[in-house]
Amino acid sequence: MITDPADSAPTTDDTNPLGEELREARAAAPCALVIFGATGDLTRRKLVPSLMGLAKDGLLPSAFAVVGFARRPWSDQKFRDTMLEGVREHGRSNTAESFEALSESFFYHEADFGEAEGYAGLKRRLEQLDHKLGTKGNRIYYLATPPSAYSVILEHLAEAGLSQEQDGRFARIIVEKPFGHDLATARALNDQIRRGFAERQVFRIDHYLGKETVQNILALRFGNGIFEPLWNEKFVDHVQITVAESIGVGTRGDYFEESGIIRDMIQNHLMQVMTLVAMEPPAALTADGVRDEKVKVLKAIQSFEPDEVEDSTVRAQYTRGSFGGEEVAGYLEEKGVASNSTTETFAAVRLQVENWRWGKTPFFLRSGKRLPRRVTEVAIHFKQPPHRLFTSGTPSSPNVLLLRVQPDEGVALRFGSKVPGPAMRIRDVRMDFRYGSAFGGETADAYERLLLDAMVGDGTLFARRDEVEEAWRIVDSIVAGWQQSGRRPATYAAGTWGPTGADQLLGPGRKWRKP
Ligand code: BG6
Repeated sequence: MITDPADSAPTTDDTNPLGEELREARAAAPCALVIFGATGDLTRRKLVPSLMGLAKDGLLPSAFAVVGFARRPWSDQKFRDTMLEGVREHGRSNTAESFEALSESFFYHEADFGEAEGYAGLKRRLEQLDHKLGTKGNRIYYLATPPSAYSVILEHLAEAGLSQEQDGRFARIIVEKPFGHDLATARALNDQIRRGFAERQVFRIDHYLGKETVQNILALRFGNGIFEPLWNEKFVDHVQITVAESIGVGTRGDYFEESGIIRDMIQNHLMQVMTLVAMEPPAALTADGVRDEKVKVLKAIQSFEPDEVEDSTVRAQYTRGSFGGEEVAGYLEEKGVASNSTTETFAAVRLQVENWRWGKTPFFLRSGKRLPRRVTEVAIHFKQPPHRLFTSGTPSSPNVLLLRVQPDEGVALRFGSKVPGPAMRIRDVRMDFRYGSAFGGETADAYERLLLDAMVGDGTLFARRDEVEEAWRIVDSIVAGWQQSGRRPATYAAGTWGPTGADQLLGPGRKWRKP
């Protein structure tokens, strides 16, 4: 393992990443956060616990209010009690104390998403809070409802004048995924948002971008001198991006039937990670500087012709299998799933970024449910040296630089080393950097970072309109190919690494890593 200076002699700055300097740099202005769909799971499981993580680190604005907007007949107190339970269950350690200190800034607004009076009432309530708590007319709206409610909420926000920014006050909107179902619906949603909000007011969440280790892709590539010179088709044979989950579709069968893994994971999380791996260095770390480069990657990937899809993708469904000796149901047996469903729970795709840097180097993206373990990683597989000098011992495998996004966050490098002894024998070894041992402490949830960025007004870690639409263009062409083929997806037993055909996608001499 590589030792880090911080392992042996921590300095004040190393142990306190949220020092005064950072706090000042990320100071959010006073504001009110309105959560639409506040009685849903996301609010108590993610949003409020993350807000309390920010409170614990002293990163919430000095004046702050949360207004839960939903239909259920809850009181302020019921809302506060439910959120406190959520923070206790899902928050970082000691965040329940932060909630107790802040609970009087949480309010519940009972209203129907489709009725104008609800928004007029919201406006009045927010103005009262401006006077009472000093939130200064700044608003952030969070769409945490099912997507079917987005349109009506957006329309009413605009009509009630709640989306307008006047006299230096801000009005921002955070939109949860799924962002559309295909290119046409994503465009329609973007057009609708545009009627009330300018692009700079819009924050499309992809929680993968809030993960520390995903952000570290930029730090690793552009904050060091040794990786970038190798980061191109001359040295990289191919790139594998894997997001594997051990869970099945659980209670989300109805939703998953409509989305499949390609829409649920690949269109957003995997493609976003890929753009960070493949992009050119931005001129500056500004929101548009970074996103301009990310979108160029997507633009350099051509849509598939229907007859190319079969060769460039693999899709499959899990069947009954076992986890740790326990038998689990197959996809077709899950609640909410049609018995003849063709929805894929595993997909792997080969993407070619057709530009100067990547030439013929392919990117392979794979994601699946009910795989043996939960792991997200990016593996950069380097080319073999041009001449094989060492022939004795196990042939060393190609060098791999592994960016482990979760769990065991870190970076590892696989290379060949001489086995001690009189013979010149080479074996693979690994240099390993682990976040936990280098930096210690609890890792903040991705939502903490993203909520803070939205409050600060920094859109770098949010998907821009053109990125979302380009990703849909590519995914639509894959889905069209699958539909035209009329074939059923392949199958894999739950608890295995996907269908056998997945290795063939990589081409001769390449194999998927077994993380
Ligand atoms: C969500 C998907 O966006 O991401 C889920 O809808 C998936 O199906 C989840 O389980 C995975 O997120 P994470 O952070 O647990 O890897």
